[in-house]
Amino acid sequence: MTLRLGDTVPDFNQESTEGPISFHEWIGDQWAILFSHPKNFTPVCTTELGEVARLKPEFEKRHVKVIGLSVDPLESHARWSQDIADTQGHALNFPLLADADRKVSDLYGMVHPNANDTLTVRSVFIIDPNKTLRLTLTYPASTGRNFAEILRIIDSLQLTDDHKVATPVNWQQGDDVIIVPAIDNEQAKQLFPEGWDEKKPYLRVVKQPA
Ligand code: BEZ
Repeated sequence: MTLRLGDTVPDFNQESTEGPISFHEWIGDQWAILFSHPKNFTPVCTTELGEVARLKPEFEKRHVKVIGLSVDPLESHARWSQDIADTQGHALNFPLLADADRKVSDLYGMVHPNANDTLTVRSVFIIDPNKTLRLTLTYPASTGRNFAEILRIIDSLQLTDDHKVATPVNWQQGDDVIIVPAIDNEQAKQLFPEGWDEKKPYLRVVKQPA
């Protein structure tokens, strides 16, 4: 099944390092990031999991729950967790799905057989509180992800939902933003009473809303 932006993400039940997870119920009224790892006891994955543990307060600030997945059994996750704490200085502080039966990996299309027919690629799914898929990323096994970029994407998505603004190329927190095209000038006057810089009728720049 190909998951597309705007789809409701599939629900599932699976074992994790924090007990059985019923996915939609676990998300509750928060945002969620589901991300896959090719395999336990591999170097890049070990660094990624330590980094996500370090960044957990940043995800929480944004009301985002994080959950990892690896196609290895629970007992292996427990041993690997110790290595992550030892080498990265941050112990796992979020659930890691034990997807040895590939239930979730297959449901979410995380195994790309022409890349590798047993391991998952590095997938990222950003899901909003309505369980709608808002972003997907796919990285090869050999490239560790940039989780600062994933936080930046969350900030952009939440600004769009809350303030009807989009974020331009290379936008960083605090930079100017753009009024979304779906908002006409009459509506924009209500939303942005201090006005905007109209570089073109379709390119209206405003300060980032608080
Ligand atoms: C890693 O996590 O280091 C890794 C996993 C699979 C293939 C290549 C690298």
